[in-house]
Amino acid sequence: MLLLDLIEGKPIKRTPIWLMRQAGRYLPEYRAIKERHTFLEMCHDPELVFEITMQPLRRFDLDAAIIFSDILILAEAIGVPVDFLPEPHIQQPLRSASDVAKLATHNVQHRIGFLLEAIRRVRQGLPEEKALLGFAGAPFTVAAYMVEGKGSKDFVEVKRLMYQNKTVFRDLLAKVGEALVPFLQAQIEAGCNLVQIFDSWASVLSFDDYCEFALEAVRPVIMALKAQKAPVIYYINGAAPYLGVLKETGADVISIDHRTNPRHAIEALQGLVLQGNMDPAVLLADEAVIREQARKTLRAFKGAKGHIFNLGHGVLKETSVEAIECLVDEVHRA
Ligand code: CP3
Repeated sequence: MLLLDLIEGKPIKRTPIWLMRQAGRYLPEYRAIKERHTFLEMCHDPELVFEITMQPLRRFDLDAAIIFSDILILAEAIGVPVDFLPEPHIQQPLRSASDVAKLATHNVQHRIGFLLEAIRRVRQGLPEEKALLGFAGAPFTVAAYMVEGKGSKDFVEVKRLMYQNKTVFRDLLAKVGEALVPFLQAQIEAGCNLVQIFDSWASVLSFDDYCEFALEAVRPVIMALKAQKAPVIYYINGAAPYLGVLKETGADVISIDHRTNPRHAIEALQGLVLQGNMDPAVLLADEAVIREQARKTLRAFKGAKGHIFNLGHGVLKETSVEAIECLVDEVHRA
């Protein structure tokens, strides 16, 4: 498996590539399914999850599939229902110690049977050389959604809780972390070859708060997964201010966004494999630009212990299928 060989430091014939949000609204065959089902219906149906996960792999020669789900499926599994409009929306956000105490964090693996069944089917249907990624949100990012109730620019409610009631906030992070371990372990046992943890919102924190809350909460989760022998990728959107401490996450691979300078990441994270980081908006340009930017990204990561080609964030819904064909072709040629 090209992706695992790279992470294990074995010789590889070319840079592996997969894309965050490689399944989704830019694909006509995804939109066709979406016309008949809500997002949650899709996530809860193993047959639809199988189908949607495989869609990009049928079109493009990608080196990995990522199971179709959402980071907020964990929230639902611990007793916090979420609607997707399509932006996530939580009717009753957590605000108090008693809200946090009610979270059902034990035995989450028994409440995600649909996801585990889908993973088993995808692993069986995928060619052997393609990796299957499981994923979850990091404790801070999932907690932030559960407190805010929706996405936010400034995360006022989560910061209010963090500063005003540190004990409750720490308790919340610990509970999400406790649930995340069996949630990810179960995905690995069902057939995922590696997992990615998304800390999409952690960069709203000051450096000290990142270390004290987000990093402290994700580290034990990654440590607990070590026994599993499936590599862990840690993605942080807005990685630049935190590069100096990201090694402490314990992750095998650090995935950086497009605002982060790969050279700085290489210097700060020696000995770690890096993933990233082409701006997803490059894929809105014409073929010559896409090819040039893809080569530029490949060059930028020379000197890293290893490089997994990816975007700095998810594929935009405005992206054309031809743009991705062209990108994959260029990375294969290089
Ligand atoms: O292909 C893949 O990468 C797997 C699928 C995947 C989804 N969500 C499907 C989805 C993954 C890995 C996620 C992770 C996720 N979800 C993150 C972390 C990555 C990131 O973007 O930073 C976050 C923050 C979420 C929360 C979330 N879910 C948002 C903000 C939204 C709505 C806005 C948007 O980007 O579409 C969702 C809904 C969602 N999750 C959709 C998909 C395909 C759109 C639903 C639809 O088709 O209408």
